Amino acid sequence: MGFHAKHLLGIEQLEQDEIRVLLDLAERYVSLNRGTRKHSSALEGLTQINMFFEASTRTQASFEIAGKRLGADVMNMAMQASSIRKGETLIDTALTLNAMHPDLLVVRHPHSGAVNLLAEKVNCAVLNAGDGRHEHPTQALLDALTIRREKDRLQRLTVAICGDIAHSRVARSNILLLGKMENRVRLVGPPTLMPARIGEFGVEVFDDMREGLAGADVVMMLRLQKERMDGAFIPSAREYYHRWGLDAEKLSHAKDDAIVMHPGPMNRGVEIDGTIADDINRSVIQEQVEMGVAVRMAAMDLLARNLRAAKAGNPERMA
Ligand code: NCD
Repeated sequence: MGFHAKHLLGIEQLEQDEIRVLLDLAERYVSLNRGTRKHSSALEGLTQINMFFEASTRTQASFEIAGKRLGADVMNMAMQASSIRKGETLIDTALTLNAMHPDLLVVRHPHSGAVNLLAEKVNCAVLNAGDGRHEHPTQALLDALTIRREKDRLQRLTVAICGDIAHSRVARSNILLLGKMENRVRLVGPPTLMPARIGEFGVEVFDDMREGLAGADVVMMLRLQKERMDGAFIPSAREYYHRWGLDAEKLSHAKDDAIVMHPGPMNRGVEIDGTIADDINRSVIQEQVEMGVAVRMAAMDLLARNLRAAKAGNPERMA
């Protein structure tokens, strides 16, 4: 048992045990973060570079706080002002940064697969902070930690993931993780927003919210990702809300103690009613944000341990 990965590129590469190890360590960081002294020395002496090629508020802030609490030197690259603008390729930028000997590279990129490609070119640990519609592993891990804390388990739960599945890396990583942990996953939304080859995911598919939510333990709403749409995927925001927006009536079909999740940023009144998002008896949206910092601390701590072990076993790499 242990966490053996060199990078955190996706949930796809993780074993059930590795997920458990990471979530258990994250629990310890939840306690640390709730105290007044929030520092540990897990990343002391290490350099973390955050490269976000797509807009982000919570994920970037979360990775930055996580690195600082663990004692790393954290640098945020302002990608809008970078040489990418002057025509440099992603790989050239990565190689340039690599020559400065970072230990952890946190990358968000609009293209699916870009982060995996980059990981092949550098010799530090790479963390995927979201690539296109492919994966967003730390989001699925923070969602898993939130669910495990709320439901006291992470198995045999019925989880309804609702809305814009086709464009969502959050959905993809969650489907993989929840499946690995032996939960029942339902996808609920308009057929135009379901990915192709949905049958291969081992999930149930619904286009009716009431049927899809019936008896669910967890209702996970997704943002309508308009920036990834290049055609008419939905009739209108009003019609979308009417049929697939989460309101009290639709939620009443889920279990009485069902929790409501959303990765943020939310479109209130489009995919979710604002009063439900703010209802502290149902919504765990703020807890998800809190768990995000702890999960990222755990992920970087574990990767740094593997990095140190690899360097100790192979001193050449210290050069
Ligand atoms: C998600 C993302 O960027 O993939 N947000 C996040 O990381 N908190 C979901 C989204 O943008 O809708």
